[in-house]
Amino acid sequence: MRVRLNNVSKNFDGTMVVKNLNLNIEDGEFMALLGPSGCGKTTTLLMIAGIYRPSEGTIEFDGRIVNRVPAKDRHLGMVFQSYALYPHMTVYENLAFPLTIQRKPKTEIRREVIQMAEMLGLTEVLDRKPGMLSGGQQQRVALGRALIKKPRLLLFDEPLSNLDARLRVTMRAEIKRLQKELSITTIYVTHDQTEALTMADRIAVMRDGALEAVGPAEMLYERPPTLFTAEFIGHPPMNLLDVALEERGEEVYARLGALLLKIPRSRTPRRFASRVKMGIRPQHVTLARQGGYPAKVYLIEPQGNQDVIICDIEGAHVSLVAAPHHNLTMGDMVNIAFHMENAHFYESDSGRSLL
Ligand SMILES: Nc1ncnc2c1ncn2[C@@H]1O[C@H](COP(=O)(O)OP(=O)(O)OP(=O)(O)O)[C@@H](O)[C@H]1O
Ligand SMILES: [Mg+2]
Repeated sequence: MRVRLNNVSKNFDGTMVVKNLNLNIEDGEFMALLGPSGCGKTTTLLMIAGIYRPSEGTIEFDGRIVNRVPAKDRHLGMVFQSYALYPHMTVYENLAFPLTIQRKPKTEIRREVIQMAEMLGLTEVLDRKPGMLSGGQQQRVALGRALIKKPRLLLFDEPLSNLDARLRVTMRAEIKRLQKELSITTIYVTHDQTEALTMADRIAVMRDGALEAVGPAEMLYERPPTLFTAEFIGHPPMNLLDVALEERGEEVYARLGALLLKIPRSRTPRRFASRVKMGIRPQHVTLARQGGYPAKVYLIEPQGNQDVIICDIEGAHVSLVAAPHHNLTMGDMVNIAFHMENAHFYESDSGRSLL
């Protein structure tokens, strides 16, 4: 099913919490809504679900405006952060519940529940109540209960945030595989960039109720169109440094304090702005054996497979990623190199990319 949001806004007591949202979700697509707490993700999802009605704008399913269609008639499957399983019912009864409401014949229900349990690896626990299940099993029951109705649209709101880190990784993969297998259009709300990056076909980045950027993960990571997107996507976060752009003959430089960093042609800003931020990912700053610029180690954060080294340079903090066993400690002097072919430039005031 195709989902389309046309100029959708939501007002709560005079406060606009969702502002003029325009978004197209293709049939079978997995779209993540990503943004910080309070940016309007849940509100948007609940409007798509038919639980809230938009204050302005229209929502279309396959070209048909559904603003006035009640939630129960929208053919949705929903999975929320609190799975809200029925505690007094067994797993079997929880899975069967949506079909019981539809008054399907008992034998048909039985067949579908068993099939769903098999697909989700719940066959062994069908007779247990939710209280006797692990978090991951409960999560799969919630997923099964959403899927068993054969929804045309799946809506997720932070479904994995109650799980431990390892289980999250497993469930991430399972949901993605299942979504691709069944190819049900999916909208997945999260504030966790890793979830969005790993699972979604495209990501809609939201900020203060408005759409900030939308695109596939690689696009948002490699060419973040705005400063906010650059800051929000990527780990460790991109370094964002106040620089001045200077033209010297044919060449363009970024001035960072006393340093002049040459900008390669492929990264030369299209226009100059009075206040500019240079973005460069910690993966694109390295410890230099020769050349580079002197910096002082401010902090080292070991991460197992790599260390994040934060350096003081020209009054700024710059993070870089290094292989472990570098024998550095806080306060050491190092030389660092900026790989300027990976630099980004933004107008500080508007947050727009200058590339
Ligand atoms: N029913 C409501 N009445 C009034 N204000 C609301 C209501 N629901 C949400 N809000 C406000 O709207 C804004 C967006 O809330 P929303 O729940 O959509 O954010 P979110 O992006 O899902 O955040 P989180 O990541 O914390 O879940 C918040 O400022 C919130 O306080
Ligand atoms: Mg929310």
